[in-house]
Amino acid sequence: MMDDKRRFALVGTGNRGTTMWGEDLLAGWRGFVDLVAIADTNALRAERARTMIASNAPIYGDVDTMLTETQPDLVIVCTPDDTHDDIVVKALESGADVITEKPMATTVEKIRRILDAEKRTGRRVDVSFNYRFAPTAARIKELIDAGEIGRVTSVDFHWYLDTHHGADYFRRWHAYTDRSGSLFVHKATHHFDLLNWYLDSEPDTVSAFADLQMYGRKGPFRGPRCKLCPHKASCDFYIDIGADPFLDALYEQPAEIDGYFRDGCVFREDIDIPDTMVANIRYRNNVHVSYSLNTFQPIEGHHIAFNGTKGRIELRQYEDQPWETPPEDVILLVRNFPKGQPAVEHIKVPHSSGGHYGGDDRMRNMIFKPGIADPLGQRAGARAGALSVLCGIAALQSAQSGKVVRLADLMPDLFEAPSAPRIAAQSSASGGRR
Ligand SMILES: NC(=O)c1ccc[n+]([C@@H]2O[C@H](COP(=O)([O-])OP(=O)(O)OC[C@H]3O[C@@H](n4cnc5c(N)ncnc54)[C@H](O)[C@@H]3O)[C@@H](O)[C@H]2O)c1
Repeated sequence: MMDDKRRFALVGTGNRGTTMWGEDLLAGWRGFVDLVAIADTNALRAERARTMIASNAPIYGDVDTMLTETQPDLVIVCTPDDTHDDIVVKALESGADVITEKPMATTVEKIRRILDAEKRTGRRVDVSFNYRFAPTAARIKELIDAGEIGRVTSVDFHWYLDTHHGADYFRRWHAYTDRSGSLFVHKATHHFDLLNWYLDSEPDTVSAFADLQMYGRKGPFRGPRCKLCPHKASCDFYIDIGADPFLDALYEQPAEIDGYFRDGCVFREDIDIPDTMVANIRYRNNVHVSYSLNTFQPIEGHHIAFNGTKGRIELRQYEDQPWETPPEDVILLVRNFPKGQPAVEHIKVPHSSGGHYGGDDRMRNMIFKPGIADPLGQRAGARAGALSVLCGIAALQSAQSGKVVRLADLMPDLFEAPSAPRIAAQSSASGGRR
């Protein structure tokens, strides 16, 4: 029934907002949601997005007016990372619930603003941690929770971005620490959140190294942007934005309004984020993690291994690479002391269609369809958003200072709250406005 639908506003009509939380959401979950407003500081991009979404919702250039005039039940925030906190807080204060894209925020102060506003208003913040919903992640979580490898003592976790995906972060606002928090925050928030969730614990201490090895000032030459670049013919990272009609429509002409080009030069001198990162993390439950993130690989995907007192779980998750891979992923469960059980099990998990190994669809089901059980605690709230961002902030600070950083020293209040809920157990879903 129409009245049961959640009246939502979409803020930020870039790629993520227009597809995941616009077109795809309305295509698959139309029975549960009604798009009542679109907001973006770029009116032309918002208009293009509205056409792609096939909606006639009104467009707003500022969030305050949109909230006052349309009074949504739910605001979905898909703007650049450094702007999330402002919009989330305004939305909560208007009486709406919020789904925010990751990372929830980029600084300790911004994390605090969101946590305070959620507490003050009693509304709910969901953070879009879709990787928790990937079929392989869910299966690994089940195996760990079932005690298959005993107590987890250490984790090896390595994430590989290829020269297409990885380079994209160096073309735009992500390439500046004050906009994205660096990839230790922007990208690794997913990975640190996965660790927190898998281990059912919280990161305590981080030491890290990070360098710029390929992009920015390390490049051999530079130009204004790919489209106008004199090095088109020789640059390995040249892209023709016009060859992708979707990106061209959403970004090229709208860039005339705000100068936000989608094909910025990856070798800009002022890029200040690292492209090669490693971190060691000690968890509160004493698990040791060895993590790395690389941004110019010939492969895309990750490798994760959990070492436990009774055995090891290992996954090489293929996402994109220049050789054929099987139609299913294989989790290896290897036992130290089999005692009648197989020494090794090859657990096959079929690929799911859709973004993030099918995680996007499963997450939308969990958030929008009533009565979906959450036995693995996959739905993530503001505390999970906070912990994974704080871990990234600590990693960057450690890399910059050469010192080991304790998360509680960065944000003591996050760990002092007497009734801080566990990562997975957030406040229950809420319906309409107060
Ligand atoms: N969960 C995931 O897997 C996933 C995947 C991709 C992107 N994201 C996240 O989604 C968000 C958006 O990513 P994107 O690639 O679409 O970004 P984008 O830069 O392409 O789009 C952002 C849009 O927000 C608008 N905007 C900027 N400031 C605004 C403000 N103050 N008010 C209203 N609109 C404003 C811009 O004009 C632009 O249209 C980011 O936080 C990103 O980290 C998450």
